[in-house]
Amino acid sequence: MICAPVMAETAEQMLGQMRKAKELGADLVEIRIDYLKSFSPQQHLEVLIKQSPLPTIITYRPTWEGGQYDGDESRRQATLHQAMELGADYIDIELKVADEFFSSIQERSPKRPKVIVSSHNYENTPSAEEIGNIAARIQATGADIVKIATTALDITDSARILQLIAHSQVPTIGLAMGERGLISRILCAKFGGFLTFGALESGIHSAPGQPTLRDLLDLYNFRQIEPDTKVHGVIGNPIGHSKSPHLYNTAFKKAAFNGIYLPLLVDNVANFLNTYSSPDFTGYSYTIPHKMAGLECCDEVDPIAKAIGAISCMIKKPSDGKLIGYNVDYLGAIAAIEEGLGGSSSASNGSVSPLAGRLFVVIGAGGAAKALAYGGKEKGARVVVANRTYEKAKDLARKIGGESMPLTELNDFHPEDGMILANATSVGMKPNTDATPISKEALSRYSLVFDAIYTPKWTRLLREAKETGAKVVFGTEMFLNQAFVQFEKFTGLPAPKDLIRETLARNT
Ligand SMILES: NC(=O)c1ccc[n+]([C@@H]2O[C@H](COP(=O)([O-])OP(=O)(O)OC[C@H]3O[C@@H](n4cnc5c(N)ncnc54)[C@H](OP(=O)(O)O)[C@@H]3O)[C@@H](O)[C@H]2O)c1
Repeated sequence: MICAPVMAETAEQMLGQMRKAKELGADLVEIRIDYLKSFSPQQHLEVLIKQSPLPTIITYRPTWEGGQYDGDESRRQATLHQAMELGADYIDIELKVADEFFSSIQERSPKRPKVIVSSHNYENTPSAEEIGNIAARIQATGADIVKIATTALDITDSARILQLIAHSQVPTIGLAMGERGLISRILCAKFGGFLTFGALESGIHSAPGQPTLRDLLDLYNFRQIEPDTKVHGVIGNPIGHSKSPHLYNTAFKKAAFNGIYLPLLVDNVANFLNTYSSPDFTGYSYTIPHKMAGLECCDEVDPIAKAIGAISCMIKKPSDGKLIGYNVDYLGAIAAIEEGLGGSSSASNGSVSPLAGRLFVVIGAGGAAKALAYGGKEKGARVVVANRTYEKAKDLARKIGGESMPLTELNDFHPEDGMILANATSVGMKPNTDATPISKEALSRYSLVFDAIYTPKWTRLLREAKETGAKVVFGTEMFLNQAFVQFEKFTGLPAPKDLIRETLARNT
């Protein structure tokens, strides 16, 4: 289930939020009465519980457990009793006072909604053993539902929470807060969690790292997640900006593929892979700064990725669990340039690449530049690498059997007309959109200019290239082409290319 936390200063505002929660597709609401100003229990609870369009959890969180209420404890518990009598579906009570609360229920209340006994840790995520002990203590109070919320300091912390959910004999809400805990808030559906929380609006959440209801339903296809759903994601740091989850989750749904794709904020690739080692964690994309670390964790690496020294995609072989690394950036970039030149993007059909014999200038010597330089060489181009740090340009050129130059000489480099230029630096990327790696005058020597940057789509380089009459190829094309290849590797199905294109266009 998805529960929308409702937090407002007046009961009217809360009712508005509850209606919105229902409209957006929540299953129930958590009414955080500790947020109400000038709260009159009998009057407000009656309105909130009776008029709620969805089942209700009543939570009156005290400051000593991370909430807003700092008044008298017996008054707080008396208010929860009132909520029970008024017909709330669930009551949340903190583990610290659960025994006291339960004994008073037996004395006082004939009606008995389900009781969630909760424990919150805003510092860290304890060991699996400690989490197990907390769960046992919660169960021992007589809780109907166990709730444990911790703070993820590393993405591997979420694994202990998911383990708790998977092994629990009673309904359990387990979640790790913070950006590094996102995986627990989504994959709880796979491991049988009782519910997850979805914020009504981005930025307005009851705990750090909470996704929005809309993201849970539309971006992560939460309703489609099942015990055997295969898990994929993009491993990077930072990763919040990534458009990849939009592309892959939309495409998985369209292809009726039982998979999910998550942004994975990873600090240490080896720890991540060792922790999430189950066969259902099947495929990853790699981005900055983990492309090299990813390669080191592979059992097998395809020759191009090995030559480039970085992977962009990793697949777990279902037969033996071996991790295989690929570099599909290179395929994406070269296919985009070949298409721009009007030629075939596939060497397998036997036709000669339109890049063969052409002078191909690659700006940069990092991950993207390596992919382009190797790709160009593979297709028979004469490759020249220009980079700010000249040593790196020399090194790359030596490895691929090409030429090199310092970036400062690029404006005066014009041995022939009709050259092809590929920018693989971050010069011109948002927010520095006024920057460009080459003068407009020098661009007149090039017949095609490609920019790996795709935010913005029209970089200054591409605008000026178009003004000088060159053909331009967008970074989005590289991104899309590698997404097509990865989708096929993840699913074994043909990529829904038009849908992926449309999704990227909608999200950039
Ligand atoms: N379209 C796609 O699918 C796709 C895929 C991958 C990457 N990209 C884009 O490609 C760009 C490079 O990514 P990467 O992974 O190759 O990064 P990287 O490995 O960090 O390499 C960065 C490169 O940019 C150069 N550079 C950085 N700032 C510079 C400046 N102010 N002046 C001159 N050169 C500068 C660096 O030169 P030094 O060696 O001198 O530091 C280096 O060659 C990024 O904009 C990224 O978004 C796009």
